[in-house]
Amino acid sequence: MASSVLSMSLSASLAGKSKVFSSKTNKSISSNRKVSKITTTVRATGTMVDDKTGIKKMRDGIKEAADENLLTPRFYTTDFDEMEQLFSTEINPNLDESEIFSILNEFRDDFNQKHFVRNDEFKAAADGIQGEQRRIFIEFLERSCTAEFSGFLLYKELGRRLKKTAPTVAEIFTLMSRDEARHAGFLNKAMSDFNLALDLGFLTKNRQYTFFKPKFIMYATYLSEKIGYWRYISIYRHLQANPDDQLYPIFKYFENWCQDENRHGDFFSAILKARPEFLNDTEAKLWSRFFCLSVYVTMYLNDHSRSEFYESLGMDTTKFNMHVIHQTNKTTATIFPQVIDTYNPAFKAGLDGMLAANQKMAAISKSDDSDIAKALAKAPLLATFAAELVKLMIMKPVDSGSVDTNLEDHHMDVNDPAFMY
Ligand SMILES: [Fe+2]
Ligand SMILES: [Fe+2]
Repeated sequence: MASSVLSMSLSASLAGKSKVFSSKTNKSISSNRKVSKITTTVRATGTMVDDKTGIKKMRDGIKEAADENLLTPRFYTTDFDEMEQLFSTEINPNLDESEIFSILNEFRDDFNQKHFVRNDEFKAAADGIQGEQRRIFIEFLERSCTAEFSGFLLYKELGRRLKKTAPTVAEIFTLMSRDEARHAGFLNKAMSDFNLALDLGFLTKNRQYTFFKPKFIMYATYLSEKIGYWRYISIYRHLQANPDDQLYPIFKYFENWCQDENRHGDFFSAILKARPEFLNDTEAKLWSRFFCLSVYVTMYLNDHSRSEFYESLGMDTTKFNMHVIHQTNKTTATIFPQVIDTYNPAFKAGLDGMLAANQKMAAISKSDDSDIAKALAKAPLLATFAAELVKLMIMKPVDSGSVDTNLEDHHMDVNDPAFMY
């Protein structure tokens, strides 16, 4: 899963359909964990600081995880019993077994088995990245690693839980978790080039898990895989055309890497097709638009709050984001019954309105005012933010889906070569 898994957090809080709880209460994930012991060790060690960046460390060579907020990548859990029902071929006759088998065989082929091999360039490039740029690089690597690792945890658990009722689907989840473990591991190795790796075991035990019903996991993971694909391939192509901006070799791996994300997304597409009720009624249309919107908004806000990173790679954050959004929306339109009309100028205007409100709220948070003064100053901005979001949600959508598509009526150029990827 790629970085946009984080978007689910926004979806969760806005949908009001989720509950957030500590991993300590999530028996399926957190059994036999000695959480308190680990916490004590950390406290006893005290806070250390990386001398090059001022970033807090848990211990030598290990970065303290960034604070969680609405826009940070999260870990997810779901109703595994309901998932078992979903994937049981006895209960779900629509599941196209031949398609599922061909997907499984593709995962078994393991095209990227030998892809994630490091070389000497990594450490040397990391040593050459200094100052503020070093800090934002580490932040990018951490966010990406956490998002990939979040995918690993969810898919791993699904692979384990579905073994009995749906062994084929279970194996697919296990093989997808293999891919995500590789992605997260590769990013974490990159962080160690900067002497600030993450303690992923510690994160597993101590981070909060957000609960989503299976249906929402399907929409959100489909979108996060596809937007992840478009992000990685767009960065890769930009750097391929502008090799002088290639500051660090990890981006060279994105071409094959993003194919993993694409395959993961295709699997969720096959699953969604097997559940027509997820795609064919008014409620499904609303949820489809809602998840599209929350994924796009989350990426736009996140990337614009660290646009120095994209600029350091010679990219224009807004252009990059709009390209990724348009392409993801086109891909998503092949399966979701409705998507957002991202080419409507009101869409970009709404994103910019939310961005401005978000930036003002962030500035207020950093001020020295009292908490009450901060809350009062933020209230009207929050209202503006919510109003913009609602406007986009009720904006005229694009009817889509595999049955009756009218993409061309909505400025979607299906002959655009990019559409084919
Ligand atoms: Fe991934
Ligand atoms: Fe993925």
